[in-house]
Amino acid sequence: MSKIATLDIDGHKFELPFIVGSENEGAVDISKLRDISGVITIDPGYKNSGSCKSEVTFLDGELGILRYRGYSIEDLADRAHFLEVSYLVIFGELPTAEQLNQFENDIRKHTLVNEEMKNIIDGFPKTAHPMGVLSALTSALTAFNPKSVNVENEKEMYEAVCKTMGKFLVIATWTYRKSMGYPLNYYDNTKGYVENFMRLMFELPTGPYQADPIVINALDKLFILHADHEQNCSTSTVRMVGSSHAGLFASISAGVSALWGPLHGGANQAVLEMLEEIHKDGGDTEKYLMKAKDKNDPFRLMGFGHRVYKNFDPRARIIKKAADEVLTTLGVEDPILEIAKKLEVAALDDEYFKTRSLYPNVDFYSGIIYRALGIPTDMFTVMFAIGRLPGWIAQWKEMRENKEPIGRPRQVYVGYPLREFVETDKR
Ligand code: ACO
Repeated sequence: MSKIATLDIDGHKFELPFIVGSENEGAVDISKLRDISGVITIDPGYKNSGSCKSEVTFLDGELGILRYRGYSIEDLADRAHFLEVSYLVIFGELPTAEQLNQFENDIRKHTLVNEEMKNIIDGFPKTAHPMGVLSALTSALTAFNPKSVNVENEKEMYEAVCKTMGKFLVIATWTYRKSMGYPLNYYDNTKGYVENFMRLMFELPTGPYQADPIVINALDKLFILHADHEQNCSTSTVRMVGSSHAGLFASISAGVSALWGPLHGGANQAVLEMLEEIHKDGGDTEKYLMKAKDKNDPFRLMGFGHRVYKNFDPRARIIKKAADEVLTTLGVEDPILEIAKKLEVAALDDEYFKTRSLYPNVDFYSGIIYRALGIPTDMFTVMFAIGRLPGWIAQWKEMRENKEPIGRPRQVYVGYPLREFVETDKR
């Protein structure tokens, strides 16, 4: 028998359906609450509110579980490649060898970006943050692809996916080339997606470039770990913007902006900057731990804590191992890494952090690994965006295919009641 939740408001009882997800997560369905009772619920930050039913990603913050389409993040990071995982996340099933090959080839058909986009990028100062430029360029792609995709047409949707995957990678790397004053580079369709990322970033017309396979493998893994994370801030933004039937590029551009904030994807850059600051300040990790605990000090230990993971972040575990491997193989000795390790050990043993279940999150280690791979600090959040792209696409696609209504929360008004207008000379 299906469960029912009963809400009692001043003796008036309202019955609300109870939904159980495929992993036994329970939810009270309040979608008809206002109709039947005249009241709404309030939940700033949506800590207790589900915005949709989704088949893409399952995570359990208490047990530290993360799965895309039912496959564990550990298996995927260990045994699959980024484009394979992208296909899985977007289309719901692991691709056959033939489908994967086709997917890679179809993405290659869209790796050329309109030359006129270069005029747009030229308008930005070299000092502009790459995330701001990326958001603007993604939005600008709408102008070059004005036809909105018919989500009910499988072929059209598939083409939109390939186009987004192809062009976004190129413009993401252009943000870096612009900041360095380098000529913008082109995708090489004879090479792989992640290898192309390195080429697009670092290959110069003055000489040959050979990407290190260790670096390519590490990046591939990092992109997989970022591919989706259910209804986080940027993904919810993509779904929200898309719910007004705005196009895929416009929705993703909004997702890039949401990701940029230091409490979300911007944290990986903030972690590195924090570690550098501690290093410059003599490496006293204890001092910064005290600052993080001081409620009168706005300083937070960046890379610690997570809205959902209250035990450990499974991605952080995988990245930590990968960071150790990559740094050892590349022979990188980095004082920043030593500070990170000291900070981690001290925080994990500290009552403040223990009682609040604050553990290192994915961003704590990803910055360290990016730095070892030669990625500049202000490109870290762009790296996150490249990895998160398949998730944004999958969630946008799902939202449209499920014909979800426009996202439009309500509010509880706490401002003035009706006031009499007063002329300027009487105010
Ligand atoms: N350093 C110090 N104290 C912290 C930290 C931190 N990094 N994170 C949380 N706290 C404290 C808060 O001050 C609060 O203390 P209180 O109960 O005494 O008031 C308590 O822990 C709970 O914190 P909230 O902010 O309520 O937790 P919330 O779930 O809203 O925030 C968040 C999660 C934003 C990730 C937070 O932990 C944070 O700011 N971390 C640092 C930024 C960061 O690393 N972000 C990346 C997240 S992962 C990602 O987006 C991919």
